[in-house]
Amino acid sequence: HNHVDFATTEMVRDAIANAHIHTHVPNYQDLAAYRAAGGYTALEELRRTCNWEAVQDAVLASGLRGLGGAGFPSGRKWSFVREHPGPRYLAVNGDEGEPGTFKDRYYLEREPHLFLEGMLIAGAAIEAKRCYIYMRDEYPAVLQILAREIEALESEGLISQGFIELRRGAGAYICGEESAMIESIEGKRGIPRHRPPYVAEVGLFGQPTLVHNVETLHWVARICREGPEILSSVERNGRTGLRSYSVSGRVTNPGVHLLPAGSTIKDVITAAGGMKEGHIFKAYQPGGASSGLLPATLDEVPLDFDTLQAHGSFIGSAAVVVLSDQDSIRAAALNMLRFFEDESCGQCTPCRVGCEKAVKLMQADQWDQPLLEDLAKVMQDASICGLGQAAVNPFMHVMRYFPDEI
Ligand code: NAI
Ligand code: SF4
Repeated sequence: HNHVDFATTEMVRDAIANAHIHTHVPNYQDLAAYRAAGGYTALEELRRTCNWEAVQDAVLASGLRGLGGAGFPSGRKWSFVREHPGPRYLAVNGDEGEPGTFKDRYYLEREPHLFLEGMLIAGAAIEAKRCYIYMRDEYPAVLQILAREIEALESEGLISQGFIELRRGAGAYICGEESAMIESIEGKRGIPRHRPPYVAEVGLFGQPTLVHNVETLHWVARICREGPEILSSVERNGRTGLRSYSVSGRVTNPGVHLLPAGSTIKDVITAAGGMKEGHIFKAYQPGGASSGLLPATLDEVPLDFDTLQAHGSFIGSAAVVVLSDQDSIRAAALNMLRFFEDESCGQCTPCRVGCEKAVKLMQADQWDQPLLEDLAKVMQDASICGLGQAAVNPFMHVMRYFPDEI
């Protein structure tokens, strides 16, 4: 399409090489090792048969849902994008900025080619003209790995030169919102667009665009190689599939823990080696700062898509932060609101001014609860994007679940 390339992969490679010469790049599965283990055969078969519907059927049968946090059925997106005439683009959201989330980094630093193959499969399914990877700059090792491995794919002839374009994010949380990310890739200030139209119809450079999260594409490659059963056969508490919980806070073994999607907070804490010595479980953030803070008493709920609505929350990107009796929940909530105040793009008043007001109200010894509830209603109803709409969750949860603290 007619557009200016603001930073080509070549430029990104140079910048990465110069800016991060001291970066520690961990051992990971490179292209040769990945191919030796059967990697890229699924992509080659799709390219040979062009039977993208078969791949879509497998993805749908697996039950895979968008793992950036929204849980939109992954395979269905492909049909939405294909409904519109090309050229079409694929844009990968690697701007993993949700506080507590680090699962994409975990997979990219170990098995980058599962992600790259998944991306090329999804790209082939929508006949993408080009794939853009928008990767957060706070992951220098990942940027080095991707730059290196994209070059390897080019030199092995698996992709044409420039088919994958690697872009560096610049540290703005809002650029993880898909339409703000697209603005940023286009070289503009990263602010969310109104939806509809969805990016599936009007996305990058005004063209139909498929946006996927990194981990979603990791699973696309695994489903193609190992079959949809790797997800569909896992059942727990009436839920199906697997979740990569990014676990941090007062647990013995923080890290990414891959568990059944129906796991409860008790299961997650157990997988993380239990509570840290001397700490008693008090509260948890189930899925990023925007999901707020739930009390330890809610320990029977499966931490999956659609299961937390009744409690005013959601699983999002499954970023679990465990808090203990030694933590102040109101202080944690205030910290979250300060984050949203900083990261609001400022485009709409309910969010820009609302976050600032909420921070001030939350600093008072005694919270003005009716005023905070009023403010929350305005922010939820009138903010343009999810940041402003969900920013109210932390203080709403303190009022609902931890009234003693305020
Ligand atoms: P959304 O539900 O509005 O959209 C999800 C996806 O489905 C988008 O790609 C959207 O374009 C597509 N979609 C939805 N309805 C559609 C339709 N009718 N036609 C075509 N496409 C459609 O959710 P959103 O705002 O994109 O994401 C919210 C989630 O992001 C939250 O759950 C939050 O947890 C998560 N999040 C994750 C972060 C991370 O670092 N992983 C950072 C910030 C938020
Ligand atoms: Fe920007 Fe906040 Fe409005 Fe979203 S809700 S567009 S982040 S000001």
